[in-house]
Amino acid sequence: MSQDPETAVRYQVVDEVAVLTIDFPPVNALGAPMREGMVRRLEQAGEDASVKAIVVIGANDRFVAGADIREFGKPRVGPTLQRIQGLMETSVKPVVCALDGHALGGGLELALAAPFRIAAVRAKVGLPEVTLGLLPGGGGTQRMTRMVGPDVALDLILSGRHISATQALDLGIVDAVTQGDLRMDAIAFAKAKAAEGGPFPKAIEREDKVAGTDRALFEQTRAANARKWAGTVAPFKIVDCVEAASTMAPRAGLEFEREAFELCLNAPSRAAQVHLFFAEREAAKVIGLDPAVRPRDIRKVGVIGAGTMGGGIAMSVINSGLNCVLLDATQEGLDAGLDKVRGNYATSVKRGSRTQAQIDAALALLSTSLDYAAFSDCDIVIEAVFENMAIKQEIFGKLDAVCKPGAVLATNTSALDIDEIAAATKRPQDVIGTHFFSPANVMRLCENVRGAKSSDETIATVMAFAKRIGKVPVLAGNCEGFIGNRILKIYGQEADLILEEGATPWQVDKALKGFGFPMGLYLMRDMSGLDVGWRMRQGRIEAGALDTSSAEYPPLADQLCEAGRFGQKTGAGYYRYEGRDATPDPEVEQILATIAQKKGTPRRSFTDEEIVEQILSAMVNEGAKILEEGIAQRSSDIDVTYIYGYGFPKHRGGPMFWASQLGLGRILEVVRANHARFGDRWKPARLLEARVTAGQDWDGKPVASAR
Ligand code: 3HC
Repeated sequence: MSQDPETAVRYQVVDEVAVLTIDFPPVNALGAPMREGMVRRLEQAGEDASVKAIVVIGANDRFVAGADIREFGKPRVGPTLQRIQGLMETSVKPVVCALDGHALGGGLELALAAPFRIAAVRAKVGLPEVTLGLLPGGGGTQRMTRMVGPDVALDLILSGRHISATQALDLGIVDAVTQGDLRMDAIAFAKAKAAEGGPFPKAIEREDKVAGTDRALFEQTRAANARKWAGTVAPFKIVDCVEAASTMAPRAGLEFEREAFELCLNAPSRAAQVHLFFAEREAAKVIGLDPAVRPRDIRKVGVIGAGTMGGGIAMSVINSGLNCVLLDATQEGLDAGLDKVRGNYATSVKRGSRTQAQIDAALALLSTSLDYAAFSDCDIVIEAVFENMAIKQEIFGKLDAVCKPGAVLATNTSALDIDEIAAATKRPQDVIGTHFFSPANVMRLCENVRGAKSSDETIATVMAFAKRIGKVPVLAGNCEGFIGNRILKIYGQEADLILEEGATPWQVDKALKGFGFPMGLYLMRDMSGLDVGWRMRQGRIEAGALDTSSAEYPPLADQLCEAGRFGQKTGAGYYRYEGRDATPDPEVEQILATIAQKKGTPRRSFTDEEIVEQILSAMVNEGAKILEEGIAQRSSDIDVTYIYGYGFPKHRGGPMFWASQLGLGRILEVVRANHARFGDRWKPARLLEARVTAGQDWDGKPVASAR
C-alpha cells in the first residue's frame, strides 16, 4: 500500500480541468496518506490559476471504498474526511466526482460533499457502514437524507445495500450516468459547469426533501425493528441521525451525527463486525497452498439430487450466471425439484427481491437429466443426496467413469468421511467436500472439506467457486462433523444437559435469544420436527453406535417422541402449541425432574448469563480442539462458520471472538470448573490452556495487542 500522499492522489491538468486521481490500493480507501493527498491536491487546484474546474476520479476503475477500516480503534492521524469535504463544498471552482467500481461509505460521502457527481453505468454506490456496526459518519446521514428524503435514506442506510448507477440517477444521488469514457465525460461535465458559473449546489443546504417530515416515520421504524436490532447500537443511531437531518439545522445535524458515530465506533458490536469483515476475507485464503496454483475454470456445474439441498445449490449456481445440469434418480424427483425451484423464484418476485427477467435468465441456464452422461462436460459436479455412504460411493464410482479429467467431484455431505467417498474413485485428488447450508440458495456459508488426498488445485477451485456463486467459503479438515456440526453437537448436548440440571427449555431459549440468536434452540427443534432425529438415533442405537446409558446422553428428546410429542406439527414438543403459539409446558418440567432424579443429577437454578456462558464455553473449548487438530485453519474461520452457517449473532463476532473479548482465562475457568464436576466431556483443550498460560490470544499474539 502506497504511504506517500504525493502518489496516493495524482495531479494533472487537462484542458483547464484539474484531474485528481486517487491511487491508493487495494480499494482506494480513505487512509491517512490518501486524505493528506486529497487536501494537498484540492488546495493545489484551488490555487492553480490555469484551472477552472476539478474532477476527482479513482485509479483502476474504482472510486473509493470508504474509510480505511484498518484505522478503526487506532489513534487518529492526518486530516479528517470533513476537512476534504469542506474544501470541496466551499470551492469556487466546481468539483465533479467521477464514480466507477464502488463508491461506498466514506467514499460516497466524499462525493456527496462535491456539488456534482457523474457515474459510469457499471458503478455501484452505497452506505454500508451498518454492516460494520457503524453509521455513515462523514455527513452521509445528513446529506443523503436531504437529497433523497428520510424514507429512502432510512432504507438505503439501514440496509447498507449497494445500488446501481442508474438507480442512483433516478434517486438524484448522481447527476449523470455515462456508458462512455468516464474520465473524458467528467472533464467535459466539469468544464460545462464552470462555464455556467456558481453558486454550486450543496446537498447539506437542501430543504425540499425534508420539509414537513412526519416524525411518526422514525417512531414506526424503531418500533418495527426493536427486536431485530436488539443488542446493536448502529441501526437505532441511524434512525436518530436521519431524524436529526429532517428536523435540525445543517450544522447541528452534522454535529449530532458526529457524536452518534463516535458512540458506534466505541461499541463492542463495532469491534465484532469489523472482526467479521476481515475474518470473512481471511477465510477465503488457504494457508500453505502453493502460490503458483490457479483455480480451474468453472463454466458448467452438475448437481446430483433435486431435493431441497440440490435445488438450492442449483439456484445459487444459475443465479451467478453459470450453466447447471440437475440430475435425479427419477423423473418425479426432477419434476418435484423443479417445481420447488420455480416456487422459490416466484416468491422472490412477489417480495420484489428479483425481477421476472432475472429469473427467466437464470432458469435458461438450468437443464435436467436422468443420465450421468450429462456430466461429461461439467467442470464440477456436486452430489447432494441423502447421507448414506454406500449410495454416495456408488455415485462417485459413476462420476469417475463419466466426468472429464480434471473435473472436481464434490460431495455436500455434512457428516460422512470424505476419504471413504474419494476411495470410490481413481482420482481422489479431485474429490472434496462442499458443505452447503439449508436453504442453500439463501445461506451464505460453504464449508469446503479437504480430504487427505484433495489436491491444492481442487482446494483452490472450490474456494474460488464458492465465492463466484456468492458464498463465503471456509476450509475445514475431514473429521466427524467438520467444523460446524462438530461444535453444533456440543451446543445441543450442553443445552440439553443444562435442562437436566434445572433450567427449562424456555429459559434456555430466552437466554440464547437475549444473547442475539434469531431463535431459541428448542423452539427451532420443535419447528423442524423432533421425529427425524429420533428415528436416526433409533437406527444408531440398533446398530450399537449410540450409548444411551451414559450420563452424557440426554434422553429428553427421545422421551418426548415416545409420548408422541414431535414438535409444533403435533401440538406439543418441548413446548405446547395453540396453532403456532408456543407456551411452556409443566409436563416437560416433570419429565426433566424424573430424568435428573434417575441420573442422580442435583438440580439448581440458572441465570440467563450462566446459561449462555456455560453453553458457549463448551462450544469454544471444542473450537479450540478443532484449531489444535488443524481442522480449522484459524480461529476466525470458526467465527465465520458460525455466523454464516448457524445464525450466531453477527454483532458478537462469532464464538471464538466472543471468547477473546470475554477473556480466554474466564473461558478456561468455566471449562475447568465443569471438568471437575462432569469429567471428560469438559476436558480443557490443550491450546486453550497454552494460550492462557502464555497470555496470548487465539493467534498466539500477546493479549494486549490483539485486534
Ligand atoms: N478499508 C481497508 N481495507 C479494505 C477496505 C476498506 N474500506 N475495503 C476492502 N479492503 C481490503 C480487504 O480487506 C481486502 O484486503 P486483503 O486483500 O488483504 O484481504 C482488499 O481490500 C480487497 O477487498 P475484497 O476482497 O473485499 O475485494 P472485492 O473486490 O471483492 O470487494 C469492495 C471490494 C466491494 C470495496 C469490498 O472490499 C467492500 O465492501 N469493502 C468495504 C466497504 C465498506 O464497508 N465501506 C465503508 C467503510 S466504513 C466508513 O466508510 C465510515 C465512514 O462513514 C466515515
